[in-house]
Amino acid sequence: MQGLQHTTSGARLAPPPRLTAAQRLGVLPMPNLAWTPEVERETAHLYEKVKGIIPPVEWPFHAPYVKAINDLKRERNAVILAHNYQTPEIYNCVADVVGDSLQLARLAGKSDADIIIQGGVHFMAETSKLLNPHKTVLIPDSRAGCSLAESITGADVRVLRQRYPGVPVVAYVNTSADVKAEVDICCTSSNAVKVVESLGVDTVIFLPDRFLAANVARQTKVKIIAWHGACEVHERFTAEELQRYRADDPSIEIIAHPECPPEVVEVSDFAGSTAAMIDYVKTRKPRRVLLVTECSMADNVASETQGVEFVRPCNLCPHMKRITLPKILDSLVYLREEVTIDPALAERARRSVQRMIDLK
Ligand code: 13P
Ligand code: SF4
Repeated sequence: MQGLQHTTSGARLAPPPRLTAAQRLGVLPMPNLAWTPEVERETAHLYEKVKGIIPPVEWPFHAPYVKAINDLKRERNAVILAHNYQTPEIYNCVADVVGDSLQLARLAGKSDADIIIQGGVHFMAETSKLLNPHKTVLIPDSRAGCSLAESITGADVRVLRQRYPGVPVVAYVNTSADVKAEVDICCTSSNAVKVVESLGVDTVIFLPDRFLAANVARQTKVKIIAWHGACEVHERFTAEELQRYRADDPSIEIIAHPECPPEVVEVSDFAGSTAAMIDYVKTRKPRRVLLVTECSMADNVASETQGVEFVRPCNLCPHMKRITLPKILDSLVYLREEVTIDPALAERARRSVQRMIDLK
């Protein structure tokens, strides 16, 4: 039976208990978090990046954490992968890699660090673990979920397969490993149409985001059978509110994430993944732009772009905001919270993520 070991006499023994990351690698002392001249000096170049967003009076609260995290990353040979929705002090001052879901998944597979800390939500940390089964993957707060990932289970996918025999299943990466293990291939918002068309069939099941499914359906002849999930951040935007901004300033450029309802995408000038939205702003340098997505995106792009005025209809992702500098520091000191996935399940889930990554 899987998971059991045999003695020479043939008796079965339970497998040895798994050691936690803290037991394997040891806990470190908590660094001093005082605001000192040394901290000020060593973090001055990082404050330069965020001075337009973080007021000087707040920096003494962030800077000791920034310095402690960057020191401990070197000591632990750890890397921080941060999604574009992380707060500016994480995105600009402690992240080693920033990006959209596809970029983070690709880079997670290439990292040579011993420890990966995910600045993002739980499904992202699971994806990193799937692609790095032998590394320690930590998420600073395992309660950082996602309304899309929570809308469907592996058992739901099995029911869908029974209802639509032979129809391949495409899962957005915003799903649990349990769901990824049941599907044919994953996709992100930046490659969804390409993934759907790569299957060479006339119908696919696309889950769990009904809005992304509808936005993909408008760009392909493949028939899409959608699940009913939605992103709690993007589903709140309405076409009417965007039209009001347009009426106030007809020259404003409106760019939206494809997790928004199709009627919102319809009245926007462009729709794309968070990385595609950032590229749009950096390349086109619009005079005024409305980013129809999570709040921190505008702060993060603003910190990297001069001469663009950002209009921010601010919808926060409460899950992304669970990740903070103090929790990242705790992760590095105490090596928590470790992401673990049953190896047999991980093997099946990895296949659907890898199939997406291998798609050229
Ligand atoms: P992307 O960064 O892949 O566009 O995804 C957005 C998102 O909502 C992740 O939670
Ligand atoms: Fe999930 Fe939406 Fe938050 Fe992204 S923004 S993590 S899709 S709830």
